[in-house]
This record gives sequence, C-alpha cells and structure tokens, in this order.
Amino acid sequence: MAMAMSSSSCKHRLLVLAMLVLAAMASTKAVAAYLYDDIKVTWGSGCSYFYMDQDMDTLALCLDRSSGSGFSSNGSYLYARYDMDIKLVVNDSAGTVATFYLMPDDVPWEYHDEVDMEFLGNATGEPYTLHTNVYVNGAGGREQQFQLWFDPTQDFHTYSIEWNPKYIIFLVDDTPIRAYKNDRARGVPFPTWQSMRAEGSLWNAEEWATQGGRVKTDWAQAPFYAYYRNFRVTPCVPSPGVAWCGDEPPESTWFDQRLDAAALQRVQAENMIYDYCGDQKRFNETGFPVECTMA
Ligand SMILES: *[C@@H]1O[C@H](CO)[C@@H](O)[C@H](O)[C@H]1NC(C)=O
Ligand SMILES: *[C@@H]1O[C@H](CO)[C@@H](O)[C@H](O)[C@H]1NC(C)=O
Ligand SMILES: *[C@@H]1O[C@H](CO)[C@@H](O)[C@H](O)[C@H]1NC(C)=O
Ligand SMILES: *[C@@H]1O[C@H](CO)[C@@H](O)[C@H](O)[C@H]1NC(C)=O
Repeated sequence: MAMAMSSSSCKHRLLVLAMLVLAAMASTKAVAAYLYDDIKVTWGSGCSYFYMDQDMDTLALCLDRSSGSGFSSNGSYLYARYDMDIKLVVNDSAGTVATFYLMPDDVPWEYHDEVDMEFLGNATGEPYTLHTNVYVNGAGGREQQFQLWFDPTQDFHTYSIEWNPKYIIFLVDDTPIRAYKNDRARGVPFPTWQSMRAEGSLWNAEEWATQGGRVKTDWAQAPFYAYYRNFRVTPCVPSPGVAWCGDEPPESTWFDQRLDAAALQRVQAENMIYDYCGDQKRFNETGFPVECTMA
C-alpha cells in the first residue's frame, strides 16, 4: 500500500504538469476532422470499419459470431469531459452490449478507477437500458439504470461523461442523467489521480444483458453494428486564478454552476429504472454504501 501511495503521488506530479500543458492547448482543441486520428480500434474480429457518414468520419463497431470489438482514444486526461455521438444496434439487439467508458492505463486492476455507460440491447421494439457505474480503487457496484426518452437506434445522440474534481456527470444530449458527487471529506470514494482515456466496445453479453439473460443473441442477425462519431475531449478548466482542476479549493462552486440540477432531478424521477441506493434487499446485510446515506 505504501508503495502504491508513493508511486501515485509521483504520477500525480507528472499529471499536474501534463494538465498545465493541456490547459494551455484546450482552447485550440476542436472536433477532429478524422475520428481515425483520435481513436484506434484495439481489439476485435476485424469486421469494424471507418466510413464517411454525412461528411463525418464514423466508426462502425462490429460484433460477429467470432468476436466483439473495441476502441480506445489516443489521449488520456486527469479530469475532462468526453463526448461521443452513438447510434446503437438496430432491430433485434438482444444480448448485445455497446459501451462508452473511461479507463486508466497501467493501473493494477485492484486499484483501477472506471466510469461506465453501457447500452444493453433488447428484442425488436423493446427499450434499451442505459446502465451506468463508477469504480473507485477497484470497487464498483454503484449502478444506476435508465430508459431513454427516444429510440437510440434511429439517430446519433450525444453521450457524455464529464469528470471534474467535484462531480462525475453522465449526460445524454446535454441533459444530465446522473451526478456522482465528490464527498471524499465524508469518506465517499472518488477518482482523483488516475488519468483516463475513453474506450468503447460492442460485445456479446447474452448471459445477463437482456431481460436478465432470458433473451439471447440471435446470431442469424449478425454481424451487429453500433456507430460512433464526433468524439470530443475537453480538458477540465478550473476557475480563474486556479492553476489546474485538482487545485480547485473545496469551497469553490465553479463546477456546481455547470450542473443543471432541475434537469437532473427530472430525469432521475422519470427515466431511472434502477438505483443501487434504493436497493434495500441487496444491502440488507451490509448496509448501504456510504454515499447512499448522504444528502
Ligand atoms: C496520439 O498520441 C501520440 C502519443 O501521445 C501523439 O504523438 C499523437 O500526436 C497523438 N495523435 C493525435 C491525433 O492526437
Ligand atoms: C431493421 O428492420 C427494418 C424493418 O424490418 C429493415 O428494413 C432493416 O433492413 C433492418 N436493419 C438491419 C440492419 O437489419
Ligand atoms: C427490455 O424490454 C423489457 C420489456 O419491455 C424491459 O423489461 C427491460 O428492462 C428491457 N431492457 C433490457 C436490457 O432487458
Ligand atoms: C434482511 O432481510 C430478511 C429477509 O427479507 C429480513 O428477515 C431481515 O430482517 C432483514 N435484515 C435487515 C437488517 O434488515
């Protein structure tokens, strides 16, 4: 543990430096002309491909009988907002899961942080489930699930993860659906030191994904495709006079101003179908996680 601490603080200093450079570059960072330059397909069966769709470089991520596939963004950041436009597997997507998530490099699995958006497919005409989770120091189990207010297979919609030192905010078409608050002062785990890149994947999860695993993948429909484009990374911008986001003083309300609390409340009331903090049965023996007990 002591070793992990000292190497983390060294890494932290490097990251501070990197963030200063990135902050200087932030204003010049625009939408990439070529998605191909910003993300790389890192695994899969080889049936994924890039193509131009309405003048936008688009990745068709593929799942066939042999394998799913996945990509990884080039850049990795400590605090940033990541946006991706995604069009999900159409028609019978049961058993398939498309993802967009944040993941660090070179951090042992048992300490790793991770922020997940996973789209669980369904039978034709049945609604997708958007599953979200936050891992800190190797531990997840913080699931919230949503049904979308549109058909995510007909058009591209923007899915975003904003990670700043105060919140992790999940957004759909710029509407916040979940905000995971940094309440570290009161013992709530929060990712603060592992720089993370954006990754995405399309894979077969028929054992559990759809209606609890009852509806399986129909391989006669394969190959399946989910489409990704318009990837944007916006490094975190601190309040005026603060050198980088990690130095933002605890009393700062800079990041609260960026959260539309009324919109968040509305989506949580109308579109959330599962909340771990409301799952009495699951935490019956152990008690609720600490963040569930805070206002
Ligand atoms: C991708 O990352 C490498 C190494 O950090 C860098 O040299 C290269 O310029 C990056 N490419 C883009 C398009 O940002
Ligand atoms: C989805 O279903 C529609 C209507 O049956 C059909 O026209 C279309 O080709 C299907 N798309 C795919 C990718 O299978
Ligand atoms: C699929 O549709 C069923 C029936 O509408 C619904 O209960 C379920 O939550 C949907 N999503 C998944 C991933 O099974
Ligand atoms: C846990 O659940 C069981 C069965 O539902 C119940 O009998 C028990 O009282 C519960 N324990 C607590 C601590 O709530």
